Amino acid sequence: MYQNIFDTHAHYDDEKFDPDRAEVLSRLPSQGVCAVVNAACDMESCESGLHLAQAYDYVYCSAGVHPHSASEWQGGDCERLAGYTQHPKVVAIGEIGLDYHYDFSPRETQREVFAAQLALANDLGLPVIIHDREAHADTLQLLQKYRPKGILHCYSGSAEMAKEILKLGMYIAFGGAVTFKNARKTLEAAALIPDDRLLLETDCPYMSPEPMRGRRCDSSMIALTAERLASLRGTDPQALLDMTCRNAQAVYGIQL
Ligand code: NI
Repeated sequence: MYQNIFDTHAHYDDEKFDPDRAEVLSRLPSQGVCAVVNAACDMESCESGLHLAQAYDYVYCSAGVHPHSASEWQGGDCERLAGYTQHPKVVAIGEIGLDYHYDFSPRETQREVFAAQLALANDLGLPVIIHDREAHADTLQLLQKYRPKGILHCYSGSAEMAKEILKLGMYIAFGGAVTFKNARKTLEAAALIPDDRLLLETDCPYMSPEPMRGRRCDSSMIALTAERLASLRGTDPQALLDMTCRNAQAVYGIQL
């Protein structure tokens, strides 16, 4: 069995875990999972993520508003988010960014809410968790303007964009998508990430790696993602898990 599985991005407050959330979260440490960061999407999930982090030693969480919910942003939300970060288990601002695939919020609003939270993270000295879907150019432009520390989550861009992200000092996280048949471009990017900037994640309950694709995902399935990336990078899965666990502790400021 593998050890040191650090899931840098999960959504255990999602309703897909309603039937058996406590069972799943109680079992994960016995499956080699050493830490999980539950990523918030809106104010409600800031609250539910913090409850999970308070209930389980190995669970941490972030606070932030996802681009899908950008149009719900209200005056005072920066202060509310800052309030959550007073709790020691809130380790990042996220997930924040731009999503031009679904366009659930107007793009101009997405950019304003993203920029406000990038500035907030810098003020608080916290890392960010970035969501970028089909918005690479605008995401990169805002990251170059604010230069936050943090993570590009569920990386789906090109090798060229990855190089720009690395120049900013950020980390890049890969999930189950690297095991999919059409992952050629993502694997090209994954191959060039330096050892000290690589992270693993699930984005569970979504994005189960092959051969579990289509089933509900949980953090134990990172083993499959680690195996794929280890073979790509010519290392062994446990070494990759150990390395990415150290990186995750560094970016989130956690000592396990
Ligand atoms: Ni997510």
